Amino acid sequence: MDFTGKTAVVTGGASGMGYAMAERFLAEGANVVIADIEREALDRAAHTLGLLGDVLAVRTDVSSEESVQALADETIERFGGVHILCNNAGVETGGSFGAIAARSWRWVMDVNFFGVLNGCRVFLPLLEEQPEAHIVNTASVAAFNTGTATMTPYATSKFAVLALSESLDIELRARNATVAMHLLAPGPVKTRMVEAERNKPADVQLSAEPERIAQMENLARLTAEVGLEPSEVAGMVYDAIQDGGFFILTHPEHALTGVRKRLHWMETGEAPAPRIAGT
Ligand SMILES: NC(=O)c1ccc[n+]([C@@H]2O[C@H](COP(=O)([O-])OP(=O)(O)OC[C@H]3O[C@@H](n4cnc5c(N)ncnc54)[C@H](O)[C@@H]3O)[C@@H](O)[C@H]2O)c1
Repeated sequence: MDFTGKTAVVTGGASGMGYAMAERFLAEGANVVIADIEREALDRAAHTLGLLGDVLAVRTDVSSEESVQALADETIERFGGVHILCNNAGVETGGSFGAIAARSWRWVMDVNFFGVLNGCRVFLPLLEEQPEAHIVNTASVAAFNTGTATMTPYATSKFAVLALSESLDIELRARNATVAMHLLAPGPVKTRMVEAERNKPADVQLSAEPERIAQMENLARLTAEVGLEPSEVAGMVYDAIQDGGFFILTHPEHALTGVRKRLHWMETGEAPAPRIAGT
């Protein structure tokens, strides 16, 4: 795909991987719409990205279908069409199972799963108007790995993104659709993900369990030590759009280890041990 003059919409575009995708797409000549719930970060990103090309920033809550519809309307009004959608916004909260309130589950599923679903439902008809278009759904290596202490809602939401994306990809291919699907499943990347609870609604209570605090510290340390730069991931996304690959695995061994563990469990009945992030 020649990005010149094409339009890309990136949710969670004010920070981390979404920001890096926006930056890369602009460098390739695309117009970019960044959508994010964090107003100040969005304004800052619009300013810095605006130095690179044509940027529209739309405050959006991806968990609301109305908000995603308004994002689509503003995109069409400004750029006339859309060619790439990155459903990238995501959050994380958790704890030991019994300590996670229903409201916390709902927040994670609303943003991570329903946010991606809303994007696919609202934008697919618009993308299908183009001779070539792409949807990139951001899951995680957690989509292949269960058992990470205190992160059960996150893994559950990312499994749902995996199932949705695989199923939609198979359906679109079966009818020779012009829209290609891609599933981004990152391992550790140096972003603000470990501070995801900054965006929590007021009625979501955070866990102060020592196990949860240790897990978050471990995740922050691991990300600082071995995390990729967001720009490297943005490059992988750009390459996948060019070569048509479905799975974008930033750390293939982490994903494959999870799949192998499940296969071993299914074949032998031996359940895996609980894991800490990154193992
Ligand atoms: N960083 C990692 O190590 C890692 C690993 C695997 C998967 N991921 C996934 O990558 C994606 C991008 O996250 P990141 O790592 O760049 O983190 P980040 O926190 O830097 O960026 C996430 C962005 O999503 C936005 N957001 C949160 N809730 C939103 C909502 N309701 N509506 C719109 N925007 C919202 C945030 O404001 C933020 O700008 C997420 O889906 C995350 O789950 C991250």
